[in-house]
Amino acid sequence: MSGALRGRVLVTGAAGMLGSELLLRTPTGCVGVGTDLVAGPSVAAAGVDLSERSAVERLFEQHGPFTGAIHCAAYTAVDKAEEQPELCANVNVEASRVLAQVCQARGAHLVAVSTDFVFDGAKRTPYLESDEPRPLSVYGRTKLEGERATLAAAPGAAIVRTQWLYGPRGKHFPRTIVGYARSSGKLKVVDDQWGAPTSTLELAPALWDVLLARASGVFHGACEGSCSWHGFTAEILRQCGLVSVELNACGSDAYPRPAVRPAYSVLDASKLAALRGRRFADWRRALADYLAVEPL
Ligand SMILES: NC(=O)c1ccc[n+]([C@@H]2O[C@H](COP(=O)([O-])OP(=O)(O)OC[C@H]3O[C@@H](n4cnc5c(N)ncnc54)[C@H](OP(=O)(O)O)[C@@H]3O)[C@@H](O)[C@H]2O)c1
Repeated sequence: MSGALRGRVLVTGAAGMLGSELLLRTPTGCVGVGTDLVAGPSVAAAGVDLSERSAVERLFEQHGPFTGAIHCAAYTAVDKAEEQPELCANVNVEASRVLAQVCQARGAHLVAVSTDFVFDGAKRTPYLESDEPRPLSVYGRTKLEGERATLAAAPGAAIVRTQWLYGPRGKHFPRTIVGYARSSGKLKVVDDQWGAPTSTLELAPALWDVLLARASGVFHGACEGSCSWHGFTAEILRQCGLVSVELNACGSDAYPRPAVRPAYSVLDASKLAALRGRRFADWRRALADYLAVEPL
């Protein structure tokens, strides 16, 4: 990409599933600097609470100057958020606002990661960036408020909404389902929630492209195609060679959870594909690529 952003880039949530993958894929010409609450191999600055402005200022003083930032830190415990709305908002809204304000004041281009949970799932065709968000949960509401706080403080920032993430080093659906399959030999999985499983191996390079291009505005970033959790499970079992496991379908009412999930939240990623000149892999292909890196 000509005229691409170069220099030191802050990656928040660096101990997490997405942040750690981003740092492994830092492009030539950039130096990735990871920060998180906790320490980890990809974390250069540990113990920084992003909701504290003085801590963020200090981070920029000690580890900057930064030309860019990719914001992955978040309160991601979707069900627990229903009991902890203030804590969730403190991270997903306040920390996002503080980071955006500091990035804006210091000239760092910001890319912030958001979620399909900003939508209510009433559509039956993939969600566009122009569709009206209507979140159903505390997590979804705080992520939407975080998007708005980010763009209010840093109008040139980019928001990238993604969904159904999995990848190396994470706690995620494929790992959990393979664990259950191996221990019980029998699974019952919901078939009335649809999305697009998205590998961090696909998403991380896309986020770097958005940053390097200094893109602004809202983008959807997810693998091509769609399935239900039941369909995703069938494909995981097939690709892992667990074909003798008994798999049954059920409705979401069989597994009541504190946070309401959208029934359909497939994201249309055409706008991001146009920016990059290429689409994400189909979700089945992306799963195979992931399993080649980290067999389950
Ligand atoms: N996972 C998915 O399926 C999914 C789907 C759609 C969108 N997203 C979005 O994608 C992004 C990355 O998700 P992920 O799954 O990689 O998350 P993750 O593994 O939970 O990592 C998030 C990291 O942020 C840290 N963090 C929390 N509060 C913080 C604070 N106040 N200051 C600094 N760091 C803080 C967490 O630390 P602790 O663990 O110590 O709290 C954690 O290490 C998030 O924005 C998430 O909303 C994820």
